[in-house]
Amino acid sequence: MKRIVFSYPGNESLAEKISGDLNLTYGQLVVRSFPDGESYTRVLTNVKDADVMVVCSLHGPDEKMMPLYFLCKNLKDLGANKIVLLSPYLPYMRQDKMFHPGEALSSAYFAEFLSGFVDALITVDPHLHRYQDLTEIYSVPTKVIHSAPLISEYINAHVTLPLIIGPDSESAQWVEEVARKAAAPFLVLQKERIGDQEVRISVPHAEQYPNHTPVLIDDIISTGQTMMEAVKHLASAKMKAPFCIAVHAIFAPGAYENLSRCRVEEIVTCNTVPHISNKISLEKLYLPELFKAN
Ligand code: R5P
Repeated sequence: MKRIVFSYPGNESLAEKISGDLNLTYGQLVVRSFPDGESYTRVLTNVKDADVMVVCSLHGPDEKMMPLYFLCKNLKDLGANKIVLLSPYLPYMRQDKMFHPGEALSSAYFAEFLSGFVDALITVDPHLHRYQDLTEIYSVPTKVIHSAPLISEYINAHVTLPLIIGPDSESAQWVEEVARKAAAPFLVLQKERIGDQEVRISVPHAEQYPNHTPVLIDDIISTGQTMMEAVKHLASAKMKAPFCIAVHAIFAPGAYENLSRCRVEEIVTCNTVPHISNKISLEKLYLPELFKAN
């Protein structure tokens, strides 16, 4: 079976690495906008009967979804056999219930839309909180890759006497796994979200670990409020400045700068979303999984 890897613009380095390491054809395409803002796609590589992988991390999803939809339809019209989407960051997973009357359940609508034009999805640590599994909302086969082994590796290599800390109960799933793999103790704090831009975090009893280096772990940093609240608390508990580690570097405008100004030792993210804080490279986790999702 012919296999071809395409990069949606902005994902070239991961797509090139995959095609190089697996010795697969690197597909050529054009994705651009017309002057009126409408999207244009063109596939320049013969995809007839090929299994195709499209690499497209879907941070900032709204502007990517229409061109990605056209691209996938385009590939199918040209005879592609199967389209696997590798999206290291899967968006919309946090809107996993109607928090207020009348709200859209956008996680489910997004999943339905994406499932309508790709044949399989591979992603990294999606925000599974109220959903146990992506199959609850995705109707195509999905494969989830876990970053925990490489986060633990990073911690073991860079942090002396780590204490792994989750800023809220939702982070417990990553924190426990990272702590187990790093053979380190862990705590999970309690978070109350007051609004889009404000969270309150309760006392964590962190003073029981005066000599440890706190390592805050979360799946996403978006506004940075969750991390900053936790950092503030650790400072008032007279703990050392923490490492702040997240899988997905979403960082709303100004968030990274605001967090950098706090009392932090280092801000570290995985490279699922390109960002200056990317220090953990996940490529080696993807390679064994590619084209297996079916
Ligand atoms: C939500 O529960 C996630 O696990 C993160 O804690 C959250 O998305 C972080 O968002 P922010 O940086 O805006 O506080």
